[in-house]
Amino acid sequence: MPPAATPTATPGKVPRHLAVIMDGNGRWAQQRHRPRAIGHRAGARAVNLCIDFCLDKGIEALTLFAFSSENWGRPADEVGALMKLFMNALEREVDELHRRGVRIRFIGERGRFADAIRARMDEAEARTAGNGRLALNIAASYGGRQDIAAAARGLAEDVAAGRLQPGDIDEALFDSRTALAGLPAPDLFIRTGGDHRISNFLLWQLAYTELWFTETLWPALDAATLQRALDDFASRERRFGLTGAQVSGAQNGMTSA
Ligand code: FPP
Repeated sequence: MPPAATPTATPGKVPRHLAVIMDGNGRWAQQRHRPRAIGHRAGARAVNLCIDFCLDKGIEALTLFAFSSENWGRPADEVGALMKLFMNALEREVDELHRRGVRIRFIGERGRFADAIRARMDEAEARTAGNGRLALNIAASYGGRQDIAAAARGLAEDVAAGRLQPGDIDEALFDSRTALAGLPAPDLFIRTGGDHRISNFLLWQLAYTELWFTETLWPALDAATLQRALDDFASRERRFGLTGAQVSGAQNGMTSA
């Protein structure tokens, strides 16, 4: 059996799990001579479009990079505007997402957010915990290295306490201690805004994910752009370290050597 972190979709299929870096809000606003906060507000509309698209396509999981561990270092007014936006979105959108069968989960250092936002995050998770149509993961104050370090720390604590032997630690166990435990790894990663970087997003989970980049700025996202990413994904051969012949043999039901 493949380790839990191995993506599972096959070519020609819709990804089960889509991960997105939503980049370009600031530039979108600057192009319109507006403050960056206006770009983030427009970015929130694109979040809704992306969720609608995933629901429409039957994608099972969507992980959005909303705020990195490093974003706390942005100017205080921009961080403040983003916090206000998160709070508004939590107040406004959760009912509708719940009605549509979306399960919401936040990954990242929740302790760094104000009490009121944390309480809303907890409520949104508890309220939607029973939903199964789309797993929506919002990475907030998230960093991939921090995710890996936290998993390693937890395992080390278990070893120190005698609950675990070092030899018990394998990829599946490690994966079960990471922020997206229980979900298949992303099949497709999309980054808008023209940069070709992972930027400390899901470092562990993206090992075999197909990467797709677009110049489109996040607030300008439309369904046609997302569909282009899906079409490209469907055309790719995913080999997971095997040969092309092995992969096509397996798809045709043949046993590969
Ligand atoms: C990156 O663009 C975007 C962010 C740091 C914030 C993402 C937030 C949203 C899309 C809005 C709301 C989200 C939710 C989940 C309600 P940037 O500011 O780095 O853009 P730039 O590269 O053009 O400066």
